[in-house]
Amino acid sequence: MTRRAVVRGVGHYLPDRIVPNSEFVESLDTSDEWIRSRSGIERRHFAAEGQTTSDLATRAARAALKDAGLQADDLDTIILATSTADLTFPSAATMVQAALGMQQGYAFDLQAVCAGFIFALANANALIVSGQAQRVLVIGAETFSRIMDWEDRTTCVLFGDGAGALVLEAQSGDGNNTDRGILAVDLHSDGRFKDLLFVDGGVSTGTSGYLRMQGKEVFRHAVEKLATTAETALATLGLSGKDVDWIVPHQANLRIIRATAQKMGVPMDHVVVTVQDHGNTSAASIPLALSISKERGQIKQGDLLLLEAIGGGLTWGSVVLRW
Ligand code: ACO
Repeated sequence: MTRRAVVRGVGHYLPDRIVPNSEFVESLDTSDEWIRSRSGIERRHFAAEGQTTSDLATRAARAALKDAGLQADDLDTIILATSTADLTFPSAATMVQAALGMQQGYAFDLQAVCAGFIFALANANALIVSGQAQRVLVIGAETFSRIMDWEDRTTCVLFGDGAGALVLEAQSGDGNNTDRGILAVDLHSDGRFKDLLFVDGGVSTGTSGYLRMQGKEVFRHAVEKLATTAETALATLGLSGKDVDWIVPHQANLRIIRATAQKMGVPMDHVVVTVQDHGNTSAASIPLALSISKERGQIKQGDLLLLEAIGGGLTWGSVVLRW
């Protein structure tokens, strides 16, 4: 018997306010046509005044627990992937723990920008497989609208707010590729690329700062690194793109999603795409896409999923998961 981290529940939350591309035209030299054709984004959700990342995360967590048929007291651990925590400390994860009324176990944030949910899944898998945890709530939640420079048209039209969550549970498998749960993980970072994508604030500056991105360069790294990490994770199982039922990519740009799928030889009708409705929600984008694709009836129990993401750092990686 092999101990596996298996998905027991999934859920998401999106703030009420939906902002179409046309809203940016009033204040910026941009157009709906430019944003759609360069990124695939049509609209995004923005958090209300005073609504924080931990608020969004708590709502997504409740939805995932409901889907799992579990209570907060059934959890050992909460890992919250975010780069937009409410405060410098304590972690947004401990705020979610309190909001859920969970008085046992422990909660912590994990920061790997847009690859955060992949890194969080990998860590949750390690806790479960090693026997340190039985059930882990893994959340991706962001309020990137708080770190946008609204005068920078090259970034502010691309991002949105939201949250998604999975409940992972220890179950036993046979130790082969037909098991449900996380089957393979591949993680990377390379700090030499810091200047391609960063926030120019933090404790060293006394301000929370704004996101800065060299979009063209990030794009170039994304297509190359995402296909490579995906192929590496699949190869550890003796698999390739043709074996995958669904690619669930980080939702940053439709052109990156298409180019990566093409490199892997996976047709677009096997790729989950939600970027048109949410923009780039950083660490929230993959759990949001998982939850919405389940609602759409795309992902079904037993399907083989390849999740992949790249973000500031640079950080990147992938997870192979049987749903
Ligand atoms: N409206 C109109 N024109 C614009 C806008 C806008 N909103 N933004 C930029 N432009 C202009 C530029 O100024 C440039 O004009 P110029 O040629 O006169 O200089 C022109 O459009 C083309 O700009 P490019 O940057 O070359 O456009 P590109 O086709 O590369 O698309 C984009 C830009 C969408 C940012 C793309 O590069 C991209 O998606 N990059 C990757 C982003 C990403 O994946 N991030 C993931 C990680 S995010 C994270 O970790 C937080």
